[in-house]
Parts: sequence; C-alpha cells; structure tokens
Amino acid sequence: MGSGVKVEKGSERKVLIPAVALSPAHDGREKKYGSKLSSTLRPGTSASSVESHKAKRKARPSGRVVKKLTIAIDGPSGAGKSTVARSLAERLGYVYIDTGAMYRSLALATQKRGISPEDEGILTQLASSIHIRFVPGRGQTRVYSDREDITEAIRTPEISRLASSISKQRGVREALVQMQREMGKKGGVVLEGRDIGTVVFPDADVKFYLDAESDERARRRYDEMVEKGLKVDFKETLEELSHRDHNDMHRVHSPLRKADDALFIDSTHRSVEEVVKEMVRVVKKKTMRHS
Ligand code: DC
Repeated sequence: MGSGVKVEKGSERKVLIPAVALSPAHDGREKKYGSKLSSTLRPGTSASSVESHKAKRKARPSGRVVKKLTIAIDGPSGAGKSTVARSLAERLGYVYIDTGAMYRSLALATQKRGISPEDEGILTQLASSIHIRFVPGRGQTRVYSDREDITEAIRTPEISRLASSISKQRGVREALVQMQREMGKKGGVVLEGRDIGTVVFPDADVKFYLDAESDERARRRYDEMVEKGLKVDFKETLEELSHRDHNDMHRVHSPLRKADDALFIDSTHRSVEEVVKEMVRVVKKKTMRHS
C-alpha cells in the first residue's frame, strides 16, 4: 500500500488524500491559545471539499469569480498557530492543514521502530510509506496510524523533541513537503508549520508569521499540559521550547524563518479573536484584489 493519509468525515464518508494532515476548522468558541478546540466539520471545510475544488476560482451568485487562496502561517511553537489557523479556516470556509502533525506522526513511528533520528535513509523510506488517518470527531480530530489511535501519543514532550529532530533530515522534508503541496495545490487552504511560506508554498497568496515572547509561549504550553493532567515544570517547559526553537531555526534544510513577504504578527498581548480578525482583514483585502 502506498503512503497516504485517509481523512474521514464522521463515519459515513472516506476520502483518500495523499498524505496530508488535515483537521477540521473549529467553531470559534474557544478564546484561549493552545487549548483543545471544539471542532465541527461543515460543508466547505471538509477534506472532500479539497478534492471537489475543481478550480481555484469559484463563481459567486453575482457571477463574480472569487479566487480560493492559499494561506501560509509559520512561526515557533506556542505562538498560537494551530488555534488561529483553525479559526481562520473556519471563518473562510477553507481547509486547515496541520503540517506539524505529519512530522509528529512520523516521529512516533520512528520511536516505535527504534530508528535513529540520524538515519536519513530509513527515515526517508518511512516518510514515503507512512499511512495516517485523520478522523474529524466531536471536540477534535483523531489521528490514526493504521488502526491505532495516536492522537494523544503524538503530543507528548518526547515526540515534540523527536519530531523536531527528524525534521532536520532532507529526505524526510522532501517526502512530507511533496504531500503538503499536493494537498494545498487547489487553494482554499490554511497551512500551518515552519516552512510553509518559505518552501512549501513560496508563492502563497497570503503569508503570516506568528510569534510571541518566549515566556508567554511557554506559559501557553504549560497550561495546555496541565489541562491534560500532566505533571510539568514551567522552567523545564521553557527550556524545552527554547531548545526546540533553536533546532527548528538553525537546521540546514528549511529552517524556520519569516518569509520576506510575510506579515509579522506578535500574539503576546493579543487574544485569538484579535489575531484572527486581523488575518481575516488581510485575506479579504487580498480576495477583493483577486476578484
Ligand atoms: O507545529 P508542531 O509543534 O506540531 O511541530 C512539531 C515539529 O515538527 C516542529 O518542532 C518542527 C517540525 N515541523 C517542521 O519542521 N516543519 C513544519 N512545517 C511543521 C513542523
């Protein structure tokens, strides 16, 4: 069986999409960064809608043609990317693609097989043959590797570290980037990660670089873990985050950096709502220009 990610809509419909990490947009009720979000699949935001976008342009009842944009959101851990990306996708009726979940799923597979994060050959093979299913459900999207539910397993601090470590391998990046491009090529997508605006979609219609002060980012991660019932230490969380930032920003292949044409947004003292509103404004302006 080839590589891929199966994205299921509830239990009724199955859509096979070449390896992409897809989560449904959420309902916008959550206001906190980094916490679990209620998610509901609406027509127009499901995986199948990606398949059905026959063209990147869609006719409005008025006859005006509106381009379905490709939106890139990059930034370090804890900046609030996932939360705002989901919310933005929800408001626009776009598909949200969480590329970090792909690196995490691969990291878990690597750990289970006892593969060294330095073994680029085997890691590349694994990245090219990995099979993941994303199942939108009540409250959140569940992630499956074959029949195993790995939703929680890919969110541990060890997997965060390992995902950051294997993501420095060129072969791994090439395999996953190819899948991400396939998923986003028809537009109407919000992709979130580290290299979306610089490497995956350098020609993305709109690019954001979301950042926050490191203490605030660590606090968000800390709160998130406490909420999950994990025993954590704030200082350790901060050190862990700084270490991962350093890895992600200083690797040779596709390091995290702001694309020259990305809009920088500092979320330190801003609510999710404020950030998303700003993003929607920018996207609407762009859409007007294209229509
Ligand atoms: O966004 P996240 O924390 O779930 O990502 C986990 C790791 O995956 C991150 O530390 C670096 C890697 N990653 C990457 O290299 N490129 C991406 N586009 C997304 C994630």
